[in-house]
Amino acid sequence: MIPVDSAMDLDPLPDERPRLPDDPALRGGVAILGAGTIAHTAHLPAYERHGIGVTGVWSQAPETTSDTLERFPSVGRVYPSAEDLLADPEVRVVDIATPTAGRMAWIERAVDAGKHVLAQKPLTTDPADLAALPGLLDRARERGVRVAVNQNGRWAPAWRLATLLLRQGAIGDVVGVTHLHDKPLPPLVGTPFDDLDHMLVTDYLMHWIDITRTWLDPAAVVSVHATDSRVPGQPAESRNPWSATIGLGCDTGATATLRIVGNARATHPSCPFWIHGTEGTLRGSVLVGSDRLVLDRDGEVRELPLRGQWFVDGFAGTMGELLCAVAEDREPENSAAHAAGSVRIMLAARDSADRGGAVIGTRGDLP
Ligand SMILES: NC(=O)c1ccc[n+]([C@@H]2O[C@H](COP(=O)([O-])OP(=O)(O)OC[C@H]3O[C@@H](n4cnc5c(N)ncnc54)[C@H](O)[C@@H]3O)[C@@H](O)[C@H]2O)c1
Repeated sequence: MIPVDSAMDLDPLPDERPRLPDDPALRGGVAILGAGTIAHTAHLPAYERHGIGVTGVWSQAPETTSDTLERFPSVGRVYPSAEDLLADPEVRVVDIATPTAGRMAWIERAVDAGKHVLAQKPLTTDPADLAALPGLLDRARERGVRVAVNQNGRWAPAWRLATLLLRQGAIGDVVGVTHLHDKPLPPLVGTPFDDLDHMLVTDYLMHWIDITRTWLDPAAVVSVHATDSRVPGQPAESRNPWSATIGLGCDTGATATLRIVGNARATHPSCPFWIHGTEGTLRGSVLVGSDRLVLDRDGEVRELPLRGQWFVDGFAGTMGELLCAVAEDREPENSAAHAAGSVRIMLAARDSADRGGAVIGTRGDLP
């Protein structure tokens, strides 16, 4: 880390945009297994915008891919089966967007077929999968393939620029991270998400857990506590609590708080965040058109320019990082091994929420 004496030492600012290999051959050979809602609303639009070549898609429900080729003319084909997709020699990367349950088995099948993998988040919600992960990653190494996780929030422009600035020491050591949801919840009643146990903690907040833990690096998260509750105005038919608060503690004493109060009413909705450091503060917001990042250091408050949006550029960011890692023969930042650390924190938060907010140690006492 180069010492930073003032905000101006950071010029030129790091580039927060998705990075992709220059060679089109190294930007292609992607096939989507489980092409449902998120694949059509985010993966494919991002790949089209950023020139990522898609050999084809497959969905278990054929109606979801009936108009894929019309909507995305650059997509090569709709595979008749997952087996056809996995057997296609043109496929280099299998982009798995099936629901979380059962996704690990698809990762294994893709690895065994000799394909690199980008798996949707969360990597898993089953502690047994985490225990089996080292064996799976050994197999991937033997076959010369990489396994990454689609933690696309890491490439939300404001979050990405914050990550890159933290790595440059822009605010010194991280003292605390704070996130607040000052926006309505997405529609949840009657959706499959409402069937997930502690859904806000285990699924919705996964991006927030993951980015927070990334910002806290190299400090290790050693304690987690979480509560969730039903709130005033929440409809009886909604299954999950609409409020969740997660607290993290690190071995350095740094702390973090992630908070959804409920279905917040807001004329100018946002997801603000603060990263307080020993030398300065980064504050900003993501989503719903609120994107911004401000560096506050040495008496100077500097609004930083941002390009793109989480939806959908962040999805090119995750895939681009895997494609660059393959081209450069290195582990991707969003490797399954790294993302598993965020899953451990999420599982501890789920355990804590189950136990009314008990503090869970994440060293000896892992779920
Ligand atoms: N920001 C994000 O990264 C983001 C946003 C939304 C959803 N997601 C994640 O993406 C995943 C998919 O979400 P979605 O909204 O697209 O779901 P979806 O139900 O619309 O699509 C899922 C796809 O997987 C297929 N499928 C379902 N069960 C399967 C099985 N057992 N085996 C093989 N294929 C199966 C479906 O036919 C469909 O093609 C979820 O895990 C979700 O958490 C991530």
